[in-house]
Amino acid sequence: MHTFHQTGAILFAIAAIASAQSSSSSASPSASSSTNSGILAQQSPSWLPKFAAPSGVSTSYPTGTIDTGSSLDKAELDSSAYPEAWAPASTKGSEIQAVMKAIDWSKVPKVSPNKATKDGNVVVTDSKSDSSCWWSSTNCVKPKVDYLPEDIVYCPNAGDWGLNYDDGPYNPSEDDKELNAYAEPVLYNFLAKNNNQKATLFYIGSNVVSYPAAAKRALNDGHVLCVHTWSHPAMTTQTNIQVVAELYWTLRAIKEATGVTPKCWRPPFGDVDDRVRAIAWQMGMTTMIWDEDSNDWNMPGDGGGDLPWDTVNGYFEDWVEARKNGSDNKHGHIVLEHELNNATVKMTQKWLPTLQETFNVKSIHDCMGITQPYWEQNWVYPANASGNSTSSSGNATISASSSAAASSGSAVASSSAASSSSSASDSSDSSAEAAGASSGSASSASESSTTTSAATTFSMSSVALGLAMVAVTAFMS
Ligand SMILES: *[C@@H]1O[C@H](CO)[C@@H](O)[C@H](O)[C@H]1NC(C)=O
Ligand SMILES: *[C@@H]1O[C@H](CO)[C@@H](O)[C@H](O)[C@H]1NC(C)=O
Ligand SMILES: *[C@@H]1O[C@H](CO)[C@@H](O)[C@H](O)[C@H]1NC(C)=O
Ligand SMILES: *[C@@H]1O[C@H](CO)[C@@H](O)[C@H](O)[C@H]1NC(C)=O
Ligand SMILES: *[C@@H]1O[C@H](CO)[C@@H](O)[C@H](O)[C@H]1NC(C)=O
Ligand SMILES: [Zn+2]
Repeated sequence: MHTFHQTGAILFAIAAIASAQSSSSSASPSASSSTNSGILAQQSPSWLPKFAAPSGVSTSYPTGTIDTGSSLDKAELDSSAYPEAWAPASTKGSEIQAVMKAIDWSKVPKVSPNKATKDGNVVVTDSKSDSSCWWSSTNCVKPKVDYLPEDIVYCPNAGDWGLNYDDGPYNPSEDDKELNAYAEPVLYNFLAKNNNQKATLFYIGSNVVSYPAAAKRALNDGHVLCVHTWSHPAMTTQTNIQVVAELYWTLRAIKEATGVTPKCWRPPFGDVDDRVRAIAWQMGMTTMIWDEDSNDWNMPGDGGGDLPWDTVNGYFEDWVEARKNGSDNKHGHIVLEHELNNATVKMTQKWLPTLQETFNVKSIHDCMGITQPYWEQNWVYPANASGNSTSSSGNATISASSSAAASSGSAVASSSAASSSSSASDSSDSSAEAAGASSGSASSASESSTTTSAATTFSMSSVALGLAMVAVTAFMS
């Protein structure tokens, strides 16, 4: 059983984020100012290189039909300007120093980096006071410092499904035909052909450097691009400058490839605390988590694990059933899915049509009412679209809502450890996770950390995962 949790989550509509994000960005880097709400004002990143406009990519929300017939160019960005792909993001050089200088470190909580296992998994300890709002330990999404906004966790409106994919863009492989059969543009074509479905995509900087054409294609298709770090580490284990570097090189790659600068990011494994949030916020980004996890990354496939297809299938069956039978009626959802391998892509191909009949499937931004997901103000997406995030014509023509009201409104979730059900295993392409073949769930991670006084590592055996599922089901109302 894996059904939506409805235990007492409360919604707040926070106009604060809107005012914080739309407040103008006359960049005087280190002078932080706060908005009426007390949320630290963000500034448009001033430290990215001034790239020439990339070719073959839209410069505003696309309204033409999507060309699903063309193949994607294999040219890479100039990789000599970037750290090694999938290696820890380099902290060297003047570009990183410029970001370090622009950050107001008095508005970054002084929290020591968490410990990591030699595989790079974060060691989750019991945190009773949770003074840093560490999601991996407690599922905290409401920062303890008053100058940061709450994380985005689920869609506010019942029936909304904020479609999202992590770890892309999914690259073709030199030598594996099976992988190539599902690499981009396969998922993007599938979304386009299914009612022009839009999604929010959390990109790995390394992948964008090696496959910029896929990033362009996604932007041209009307998807929303967000940051998902350079090399997919557990971010709370990183030092301040490493956090900056993981975010910076990804922002740089997306900007160089597509011309846009995302205002959103997702921490790998959901591993975030107020220190990491504060750095991301000052680099222009809001933290987006999820409230349900498909665990699709853990199915057998490249970079995956050993979770049976039927298990993941069963989650989707339950989610659809809960919506249909009326028990899933408190709020919408952000269900973690991946653009990772043949299995994750196949799972979307199987379920999207049914989800579209059952939910209002749309990008996270659409369900949150966020129309301007980039610092480039000319990009204005439709938001709060009813039904699937598309016109009924079934092509990409959508008129963007006027930009007057276009700043981001936001609703955020307050969650207690008990009311949160999300599973913490965001995927990784890393061999560490593939080898571990295990899955952690946040609820289980926090449960296990409260039942053992010793530190527990984040990864869990599948037996433990099964137990966690039982526990999760047990407190369903
Ligand atoms: C609705 O479906 C969910 C998921 O299968 C199930 O857990 C729940 O008990 C059902 N509720 C009702 C009222 O039938
Ligand atoms: C995905 O491909 C792998 C081989 O790389 C295969 O073992 C697995 O069964 C495939 N999964 C699905 C769902 O097709
Ligand atoms: C979308 O709806 C939310 C509330 O659900 C609201 O705060 C926001 O302003 C709306 N955005 C637009 C562009 O209408
Ligand atoms: C979403 O699109 C599907 C077609 O793919 C359609 O059957 C369904 O009714 C749409 N849902 C809404 C709420 O418009
Ligand atoms: C797509 O939208 C345009 C209007 O902008 C319309 O002319 C065209 O017929 C539509 N195509 C389809 C397949 O609905
Ligand atoms: Zn990921």
